[in-house]
Amino acid sequence: MVTRRHALAAGIASASVGVTGASLVPLLTARGAEAAAAEAPAAAAAAIELFKVPLPLIPVARPLSTAGGVDTYEVTTQRSTAEIVPGVRTDVLTYDGRFPGATIKARTNRPVVVIQRNGLDVPISRHLHGASVPEDSDGGPMDTIEPGGVRVYRYPNRQPHASLWYHDHAHHVESENVYRGLHGSYLISDPVEDALPLPKGAYDVLIELRDANIDASGQLVYAMGDRTRNTLLANGVPYPYLEVAARKYRFRFANTSNMRFFELRLADGGELIQIGSDGGLLPRPNPTPSVYLSSGERADVVIDFSRYPVGTQLVLVNTGGRGPVEQVGQVLRFDVTRTADDPSSVPSVLRALPPLPAPTATRSVVMRMDEDGSATAQAYLDEKVYDHARVDQVVRYGASEVWTVTNANVKAAHNFHMHLVQFRVLERNGQAPPASESGLKDTVVLQPGETVKLQATFDSYRGAYVYHCHMLDHSAMGMMATMKIR
Ligand code: C2O
Ligand code: CU
Repeated sequence: MVTRRHALAAGIASASVGVTGASLVPLLTARGAEAAAAEAPAAAAAAIELFKVPLPLIPVARPLSTAGGVDTYEVTTQRSTAEIVPGVRTDVLTYDGRFPGATIKARTNRPVVVIQRNGLDVPISRHLHGASVPEDSDGGPMDTIEPGGVRVYRYPNRQPHASLWYHDHAHHVESENVYRGLHGSYLISDPVEDALPLPKGAYDVLIELRDANIDASGQLVYAMGDRTRNTLLANGVPYPYLEVAARKYRFRFANTSNMRFFELRLADGGELIQIGSDGGLLPRPNPTPSVYLSSGERADVVIDFSRYPVGTQLVLVNTGGRGPVEQVGQVLRFDVTRTADDPSSVPSVLRALPPLPAPTATRSVVMRMDEDGSATAQAYLDEKVYDHARVDQVVRYGASEVWTVTNANVKAAHNFHMHLVQFRVLERNGQAPPASESGLKDTVVLQPGETVKLQATFDSYRGAYVYHCHMLDHSAMGMMATMKIR
């Protein structure tokens, strides 16, 4: 696995160095390597030029009120259009007309309230991914808001800094809802993070990555299990460029794709310094040539552009996931256009994580889906399809548990996400986890045949919460289960 991935990486990285200028990529509908459960009708696809549009910065949401030390937001899901392909209006589902949704900036221990209205004709559920929240504000799969309805979600933010995200979670429609645009970011900051000399302000840039299948008329094509979502979007636009100064930047990457995995690297093989993962900063920076993000995962990365002369154009390439290299091998381009002062630095220690308590229970979970490619394929946790009326695991409140999660498939990758908790990765395939998994995590990738051992402590809220594969087409096919903390 690793060998193949690296061989592929080398090929793409060298190919991409020559492709720094804009070129026209015909977005043909191409078949993935595997038989897919379903594929979108083979429509003619839009032609999209690389590196023609600037990376949009996602706006920060403004609270309706900050009274009583609580930030209150009011948000309506609604149909709208977005300019994804230049000059074309694409129909999308949005929070308040924005694709992707506005970023909520929160502080540890300062509550946020979201008054969520549903202006769509399908049920929705608003889930705050990675957050420790009471059961009735978790936005679980069955806890939906009907069309025209309203719901108040309360987020206490009793957790350390972290780059979280929110998205739709209404069972069976979440895959399409998220694909059509119901996703956004939620960044919690705290004094630990504030005190560090990391790049800040304009040098701290959120980049939400995802894919899409865009037809010749510029519209989003949705089919469950579609392997041809081969147009890559960053902050809602395809293959943008970002003008940067020759100094350090912090990039907060979030993979908001339904299914796609990314392996990000610079085309020249230059160093990335990973400083954070799902649940905030790593204990120590991790200098690395690449970061791997399965769907739902996040990574904070510092790139020091001071090593490049002004005028350099540097492509961020993708060497993970499936699809034709000309479409999925490049993500965006950094254009170094000026010099700038740089008072920032990356300290050798970023944070101290609390010591792991002695575990009080162990469990195991097996992930598997039908790999026959049939239209009736189902996906399972412990050989069971999701049933909201069933409790699959009972967890004692206050317990610290070790879960051993195995992907029993031989072709299909999965990943494992738990609501409510940020966990620690203890082992990957019997070995110490890589540095990229040394921090707090809420989602971990499981390549075919892999096993991950993780530890989670359930000392925040009681109630029923789901855990599932975060490839949303898989969870919609049943790869989800319920744990009850009591
Ligand atoms: Cu990001 Cu249950 O999901
Ligand atoms: Cu899966």
